[in-house]
Amino acid sequence: MNWHNRFLQQAGWTSRLRAYLLEQAGLSGARRVLEVGCGTGAVLAGMAGSASVFGVDLDLTRLAEASRHAPRACLVCADGLCLPYPTGVFDITFCHYLLLWVSDPLQVLCEMKRLTRPGGSVLALAEPDHGARLDQPPGLATLGRLQTESLRRQGADPALGRRLESLFCQAGLSLIECGTLQEDEERVLSPAEQQLEWEVAESDLAGMIPQAEIQRLKRLDQAAVRRGRRRVVVPTYFAYGVV
Ligand SMILES: C[S@@+](CC[C@H](N)C(=O)[O-])C[C@H]1O[C@@H](n2cnc3c(N)ncnc32)[C@H](O)[C@@H]1O
Repeated sequence: MNWHNRFLQQAGWTSRLRAYLLEQAGLSGARRVLEVGCGTGAVLAGMAGSASVFGVDLDLTRLAEASRHAPRACLVCADGLCLPYPTGVFDITFCHYLLLWVSDPLQVLCEMKRLTRPGGSVLALAEPDHGARLDQPPGLATLGRLQTESLRRQGADPALGRRLESLFCQAGLSLIECGTLQEDEERVLSPAEQQLEWEVAESDLAGMIPQAEIQRLKRLDQAAVRRGRRRVVVPTYFAYGVV
């Protein structure tokens, strides 16, 4: 599984929303911007503007990859629960598909708030709610349920998205805007993206159900795609707050 390709795909889904929210947050005038949980640098690599960009991740291998994809970013291996920067040094702190993976998302948001200067912005750009995932045709609902269960077994909170607004309020951030990605609703996948979806699905389902059952679901999925009847909707939430 090439995780950078997966993260690039997800960054593609959120590109319009990210550009809009970062502009609202004042990216063009910002001096320092931090991404918490930056992974392989899929988002940092595309950051526009003259701000100095910083990235933090727990995974050293991913950070090494990020240093190739986002060479101008200043990268640090650290835990989002306890970030190694002084208070109030960033104009914008953000995360993208992170909070579902952390043991204490409120603590991470509190850390992001601590590092952001008064009047600065904290953004959670994409947090899915797999608990509300919709699969069509109905025969493929099993696939959705199994992938959601796999996320849980991997340590994620698959329904984090639905809690995002309340987490921002609990962190003491003034909420400016929140909602779900519109792009999610009618996403048509290219053949290459469909192949990537199945690389993720096969990695998710390995060990959960027999290989023959995985291949049966894959054939069902491919047949539905060919007939133009395949639809997957995972509501994905964003929130924008100020300190
Ligand atoms: C789904 S990836 C998203 C990567 C990147 N934000 C993107 O969208 O391309 C989540 C990342 O969060 C990192 N992560 C998980 N828990 C973390 C924590 N407590 N502190 C810092 N990073 C963490 C993982 O190592 C992983 O790289």
